[in-house]
Parts: sequence; C-alpha cells; structure tokens
Amino acid sequence: MPVNKAEFVKSSASLKECPRPDKPEYAFIGRSNVGKSSLINMLCMKGVLAKTSVTPGKTRLINHFIINDSWYFVDLPGYGYARVSKSMIKEFDRTLFHYLTKRDNLYCVFVLIDSRIPPQANDLAFVNRLGSLQIPFAIVFTKTDKTTHNKITGHTRSFKTEMMKTWEELPPCFYTSSVTRSGREEILAFIEKTGHQPAIDG
Ligand code: GTP
Ligand code: MG
Repeated sequence: MPVNKAEFVKSSASLKECPRPDKPEYAFIGRSNVGKSSLINMLCMKGVLAKTSVTPGKTRLINHFIINDSWYFVDLPGYGYARVSKSMIKEFDRTLFHYLTKRDNLYCVFVLIDSRIPPQANDLAFVNRLGSLQIPFAIVFTKTDKTTHNKITGHTRSFKTEMMKTWEELPPCFYTSSVTRSGREEILAFIEKTGHQPAIDG
C-alpha cells in the first residue's frame, strides 16, 4: 500500500487532548531508543516526520500523525528509561494506560522489541499487561540490520517462548530495519487489512 501523504497533527499530554477518534489508529510503543520514531518515519518514507532522538526518552507526549488522510499513527513515550524520576515514570504510565484502554479508535498497538538482545523483563511485563487488558497488539522486532540472522532467530524465538508461557496464541510478529526498510510492506499490508475491520472493543 503506498503512503502518499503523512503529516504531523499534534502532541497531546493526555487522552482528552487527542484528535477526534474518527479514524483507525495505530500506536507505536517500546523501550526508549528501540526505534519507534525511526519506524514511523520509515513506514511513511519521511526523513523527519517523527523526531528521532539522540537522547533516549525524548518523546514525552502522545504524538499524532495522519497518514493518507485515512488513519493515525501515534508515537508514544518510551518506557524503561532510567534517567527520569520515579514519580514521572508513574505519571507517564497512568497517562499511557488511560490512552491505551480508553482510545476508542485504537486498532492495534505495535510493541517494538530490540532484536539484538535477549527477552527483557520489562518488555515481557508490558506485553502481558496489554494482553490482560485485552488491548490488541502486534510485536515488531527492530534494528535487524544491526545484528546477525542467528541472533535475531535466537532472541525472537526466546521472546515468543516466554510469551507462550502466558498466552495460548502469539500476536502477529514483524521484523524491521529502519535502515534497509525491511518489514515495511508487511506492516503496511497488515494496516490495510485491519483498517477495514470494525474497531475492537477495549
Ligand atoms: P525514544 O523516543 O527516545 O523513546 O526513542 P525511539 O524509540 O523513538 O527511538 P529512535 O527512533 O529515536 O531511535 C533511536 C536510535 O536508534 C537512533 O539513533 C536511530 O537512528 C537508531 N535506530 C532506530 N531504528 C534503527 C534501525 O532499524 N537500524 C539502525 N541501525 N538504527 C536504528
Ligand atoms: Mg521517539
């Protein structure tokens, strides 16, 4: 599916500031520096649509982009960033889960996982939390250009094995590189397919 148009809409500090929920919405979440903003730019073929950060943990707000005038992409703050205070982490967490559980037009949350490292406790905890709240999600293993095929296979297999300890079914999984653009067509095809279905309750 071609992306002909991609525009920044607004940054919101909370759910109530978000744009009217009148179009399918796909959000991107994951640990700081995992490559959320880079992936959004890669999907849209835009160099600087979403701000990528040299300093991890830069994205603080709920950032909406409108794609092809048809659906929203949302760049969310990264979790697991150690250099912010505990109270700030707690506040982000509340805002984030308020958005994730109450946003009516949220079709899918893409949870980004770094393919270069073995399963991390906070990633698994986050995925399990989404699952228990029945928030629809897919997994995106990122930065595949930065590691070997064997490592990607090993890490992603371990991650899936960990998930299967809790869940009967695996969510859709994608493998991406913002550098080589691999995984782009697969994600866009998934969006095209799910975008025609009615929103899932949550
Ligand atoms: P926060 O907003 O701080 O949570 O980070 P983020 O998840 O949005 O990560 P961002 O896209 O800013 O990327 C972090 C760093 O990783 C940047 O230096 C990117 O250039 C780099 N990066 C992201 N994706 C890839 C990738 O697929 N391959 C490679 N080689 N580098 C990547
Ligand atoms: Mg970012």
